[in-house]
Amino acid sequence: MSENQYFEGFSKLSRDEKLKMLAGTVKDPDAFINELNGYRYQDPSLQEKFDQFSENTISNFHLPYGIAPNFLIDGKLYHIPMVTEESSVIAAASKAAKFWYNHGGFQTEETGTAKRGHVHFLWYGESEELESLYSRFEPELKDRLSDVTKNMDARGGGITESWLSNMTSEMDNYYVLGLSLETVDSMGANFINSVLEKTAGELKKFADEHQPGKLEILMAILSNYTPRSYVKMKVECPVEELEGFNGSIKGIQFAEKFSKAVQIAKSNVSRAVTNNKGIMNGVDAVVIATGNDFRAVEAGAHAYSISHGKPSALTDCKIENGLFTFRITLPLAMGTVGGVTRLHPLASRSLEILGNPDAKELMKITAAVGLASNFSATTSLITTGIQKGHMKLHLENILMAFNVDEEMKNKIRAYFKDKEVSYEKVKKFIEGKL
Ligand code: MEV
Repeated sequence: MSENQYFEGFSKLSRDEKLKMLAGTVKDPDAFINELNGYRYQDPSLQEKFDQFSENTISNFHLPYGIAPNFLIDGKLYHIPMVTEESSVIAAASKAAKFWYNHGGFQTEETGTAKRGHVHFLWYGESEELESLYSRFEPELKDRLSDVTKNMDARGGGITESWLSNMTSEMDNYYVLGLSLETVDSMGANFINSVLEKTAGELKKFADEHQPGKLEILMAILSNYTPRSYVKMKVECPVEELEGFNGSIKGIQFAEKFSKAVQIAKSNVSRAVTNNKGIMNGVDAVVIATGNDFRAVEAGAHAYSISHGKPSALTDCKIENGLFTFRITLPLAMGTVGGVTRLHPLASRSLEILGNPDAKELMKITAAVGLASNFSATTSLITTGIQKGHMKLHLENILMAFNVDEEMKNKIRAYFKDKEVSYEKVKKFIEGKL
């Protein structure tokens, strides 16, 4: 049992009261309150905005906001905002962007923007009866939903498909009414869920009018599995040009080793998951910087990677006729309006830096960063290993914790150039014990 006391009515307290209550659980309450207050904005209207994004807010949590410059995507140059706490991620993406800038850039092959949602319900009757009921309900569906869809319809989106699925092989009496929707420049979660909840209500009403008591709604919710909202993108160059990216091995050797590494990530589950984590290092950083929902993007990407039965790489590599092609197929549900994309001041700035893209363009930008991240990570793995680069940045982070002058920092950097870095070892070095 924890030593903490139950917080009765916590949500009803003012922020100051919440902070004070919480401070009662830590060693130094005054320092705690000062520090947490220190991370709040001086401008009350700005702080109010942040407080309203979520609940029970007591402070702000800051993350580094960086730029990966020079991404050439479909012939257009972007400097891409990324939010990540992990060292090397932005450096790795930037390095790949620089290389591909001189080799044709990132090229989109296909995109899709269709999202899906479902009304899950039980039908206590024959499936033929339900099919007949549904065949009469479906033609009325769009009219019945028009009050929730009219704005989206006017923007060029809305419901594009609907269907009934018999799921009784999974559970007795279980059926699904599915919808496919276009949400234009919004990620669309609120719109889709409103449409689905209204659909559930209308379906129940219709069923009760014609076959009373036979239909029970279980739930209505969008799916974060978005295989039809995706970007397929590639980079491509003659194999001998790959030598320019990592001078340590010849282009052809590099291409062959790289392609084997990708093959492993395709077939070996342990490697696949780590490979995809590396892709998401870049993807999430753009998703967060633009105020999009990284949990949705993560859930969709990992589920897609399992669509052939087990986790597999989201990237692919081909060497054909002396040409090296590296490709990503990434499901993505992102928006440039709605959510906090325009409310969060820095998300809005990110979109401005990107030239205020529409949702599809933002999806391409994000996929390019995912492909770049994976290209750099795989390159490091098949050449120097990742620790060399990581350790350099890790050392810089450690140095920040010590109050030492630049001369000492340089001595430390020189000493650890070819050695393993740790906080304890740096401390010993400073104390003259190494
Ligand atoms: C570390 O955050 C990501 C990598 O492990 C990705 C990979 O192994 O491909 C380097």
